[in-house]
Amino acid sequence: MRLGVCYYPEQWPEAWWADDARQMMALGIRQVRIAEFAWSRIEPEPGRFDWGWLDRAVQTLATAGLQIVLGTPTATPPKWLVDLEPSVLPVGADGWVRGFGSRRHYDFSSDAYLAEACRITRAVAERYGRHPAVIAWQTDNEYGCHDTVLSYSAQAVRRFRLWLQARYGGIDSLNAAWGTVFWSQAYASFDAVDAPVGTVTEAIPAQRLDYQRFASDEVVRFNRAQCEILRECSPGRAITHNAMLFFTAFDHHALAADLDFVSWDSYPLGGLENFWFDAPTKQRWLRSGHPDFAAFHHDLYRGMSRQPFWVMEQQPGPVNWGAWNPAPAPGMVRLWTWEAFAHGAEAVSYFRWRQAPFAQEQMHAGLQTPDRRFDVGADEARQVALELQCVPESTAQRAPVALVLDYASLWAAQVQPQGADENPLRAAFDAYSALRSLGLDIDVVGPEATLQGYVLVVLPAQTLVGDTLLRELRETSTQVFIYPRAGAKTDSLSVPEGLPPGRLRELIELRVQRVESLRPGTGVGLQWESEHHIALRWREFVEPGLGVRIEARFDDGWPALLRQGRTRYLAARVDAALERRLLEAAATEAGLAPVRLPDGLRLRRRGDMLLVMNYDDADHEVSVPSARWLVGGARVPAHGVSIAQYNAESAS
Ligand code: GAL
Repeated sequence: MRLGVCYYPEQWPEAWWADDARQMMALGIRQVRIAEFAWSRIEPEPGRFDWGWLDRAVQTLATAGLQIVLGTPTATPPKWLVDLEPSVLPVGADGWVRGFGSRRHYDFSSDAYLAEACRITRAVAERYGRHPAVIAWQTDNEYGCHDTVLSYSAQAVRRFRLWLQARYGGIDSLNAAWGTVFWSQAYASFDAVDAPVGTVTEAIPAQRLDYQRFASDEVVRFNRAQCEILRECSPGRAITHNAMLFFTAFDHHALAADLDFVSWDSYPLGGLENFWFDAPTKQRWLRSGHPDFAAFHHDLYRGMSRQPFWVMEQQPGPVNWGAWNPAPAPGMVRLWTWEAFAHGAEAVSYFRWRQAPFAQEQMHAGLQTPDRRFDVGADEARQVALELQCVPESTAQRAPVALVLDYASLWAAQVQPQGADENPLRAAFDAYSALRSLGLDIDVVGPEATLQGYVLVVLPAQTLVGDTLLRELRETSTQVFIYPRAGAKTDSLSVPEGLPPGRLRELIELRVQRVESLRPGTGVGLQWESEHHIALRWREFVEPGLGVRIEARFDDGWPALLRQGRTRYLAARVDAALERRLLEAAATEAGLAPVRLPDGLRLRRRGDMLLVMNYDDADHEVSVPSARWLVGGARVPAHGVSIAQYNAESAS
């Protein structure tokens, strides 16, 4: 477990570099990520490389004892390249070519850009790939950031047609799969198909889903090309990419297959401010971030990472890109760092060493202020560095609960939400949050994962059900908890034969005859055991099969929770209290010992350590039988962390 930082030597006078490196080491930082936006400094004119500054920067950092993570600089094609080859620029859904002057201004489908990206990747990798201080590579930076996965350029459409041809073979199969008989939308050839954009009203849903799949494959292709070059030129160094928060526009499982490990960029306050949380929730966690925000992503990205995951960028203070940008409560930078380690992170790297006094991110905090003094984030990083010396090395073990998340299912639900506030990612997050508030450790796994060994499997947003998932669900003896809309569509986004939940009928025999979405402020009452709750946003009218038991009913008599053997099906979105109660019941029956944690208190086990994180602004007292406290103690202060070495049996 170690700390790192993101550093931009090209943005500071060279005379500062050695001092910066020395101060990083003194703070307890051991690795530094550089150069991911430095293309125009590395190659100021086509074919003219200026390696001098980067050679010296690498040497200065290495001499100080820092390990180096190099970024390939392909997120920022330089101006000369855009001028020479304007076709590298992507086209937005509005038909406008996106211009130069910020970043990520390239089209994943541009062969010209792919060639340039490979050329610069090879140049950097040949130069530094065998440098002893270089331990890892980051490809590009945050694929898809600023909404850049989809492009509607002519080259993207050309490649989409080829992609469709490979998927469907003949145009008749495409017409059948897309249902083009509707509204007279039939195509005579693949060459006649365009991108699903600019239509009068909703374009063909299956076409939109396919365009998303295609665009995701383009990201994977782009990344793979870089990985191949890096493996060839930089043997033995790990390759990663820094994924984003609440971001689903490409299939991260597919991308991760080409990486040695996955990393992600953790901005808990921006993630709270800019996403779906309601005003009271945003206010409640204003300075701490939602208690499950970082954890959800740690578990998601760990679940797809071959080697231990990293946090490549950790928020150190206020960011600049939220609608509002509050400062973290004192202690939160430390807490977020420990939360990452609790979930198995190998490294947590702060973004960034020093706040830049110029350009787009001048209002974004760093560990230092622009005048080279330490800011509060640095003090907390220093504290973590010291605390790391008190805890044993360990790795994250498999959790008892699996939450399945697959990107194609999310896209399928997003294409036709059917309710303005229907959001499959939010559904996954809410389920995760309910489970974690019960003190349970969770693995977020993909649709190809093996489910053997889990005692509870939760499907919060499983619109599509593939062969592997179905087989795994059939073959385990685990408890399965299925949320509404599961199995609701075929692979080509049609209603399945026999109606939803389609293939999941192999687990629970029911037929979703009709669904309705509900506007905010409306709901349908439902009775579960002795409790009355409210279905919100979404409810289904379900006909149960013969072997199905009804465990909860809506007030109008329709089944709300159905059960067959070890499988439960919930026919509505429900209030948070009920969601938690239902998952608690399933977990208990599965043999787990859920605990109702106080609001804001969270647990995570790593090896034989139990980490207790307190997001609340009040202190909490915990009781961990036979605990030996390594950091802190039984009283966990507001925004504090305590770490115990514990006996797994007694603390379960
Ligand atoms: C990330 C990005 C960084 C920086 C940071 C600011 O999304 O990778 O380059 O922009 O956000 O919070």
